[in-house]
Amino acid sequence: MTLATHDVRWGAGGKLIVDGVSLNVEPNRVLGLIGPNGSGKSSLLRLLCRLRKVASGVVTLDGQDIAGVGRRDLARRLAFVEQQATTEIALTVCDVVRLGRTPHRAAFASWSAEDERAVDAALERVGLSERHDQPWHTLSGGERQRVHIARALAQAPRELILDEPTNHLDIQHQLSILGLVRRLGVTCIVALHDLNLASLFCDRIGVLSAGRLVAAGLPEEVLTPALISEVFGVEVTIRLGANGHRHIDYLVDHEPGERP
Ligand SMILES: Nc1ncnc2c1ncn2[C@@H]1O[C@H](COP(=O)(O)OP(=O)(O)O)[C@@H](O)[C@H]1O
Ligand SMILES: [Mg+2]
Repeated sequence: MTLATHDVRWGAGGKLIVDGVSLNVEPNRVLGLIGPNGSGKSSLLRLLCRLRKVASGVVTLDGQDIAGVGRRDLARRLAFVEQQATTEIALTVCDVVRLGRTPHRAAFASWSAEDERAVDAALERVGLSERHDQPWHTLSGGERQRVHIARALAQAPRELILDEPTNHLDIQHQLSILGLVRRLGVTCIVALHDLNLASLFCDRIGVLSAGRLVAAGLPEEVLTPALISEVFGVEVTIRLGANGHRHIDYLVDHEPGERP
């Protein structure tokens, strides 16, 4: 057992934003969360890592209500990479990644060789070893995103929650980050925009629409033309791609090369 939500609701500004969501992720699997802008993905992820408190329902970690888990214990288990993570401007790359070690260190303990190894390994995994001492503010958007992922990896979590981790990344880095997430072998919940990437990298997919979980299951069960049309308002066809994976083709009403 790992992370699960049970009939979770949360609202703000008089509006129900997460509306009775029950889902669970299998251990060491990747659950993709998709849905249009504003469907409640980020809000649900924040409830999952207790950055927000549920209005009703429960979030459980190994069957235990996370409301009763100590802050430090939660931080040792669970890492979150936010959609628009910002960082103190004066830090270097390794300073940011070192923040991930905080929950593992006793108060006032000195920096250990194990901490340093975890930081170096995390930077290597995201391909930024050479940027170890570079000032944070000089990084590109994509590099910042990868540093935040390294910070989460240095935390050595068993549950990893990522909110649109491929934003700002070029296609090579999108593929390498999602490939990395798959290979980590940790339980992962990831909000993604790109339906093809979600289908390629997630074991299961949950679909949010106006705060409700409207479908959940294997990618091929969930990502049907009917569901995509209903939830995203876009017409698609699905074909078998070159590598044997299903590929979603978006149907647009102009011919290739045609200009208005
Ligand atoms: N703290 C808040 N106060 C008021 N409205 C909010 C708050 N947080 C999110 N919302 C609204 O809830 C809806 C869902 O937002 P969000 O969870 O960010 O969706 P998504 O990540 O799927 O794009 C949006 O309409 C957003 O404006
Ligand atoms: Mg979001």
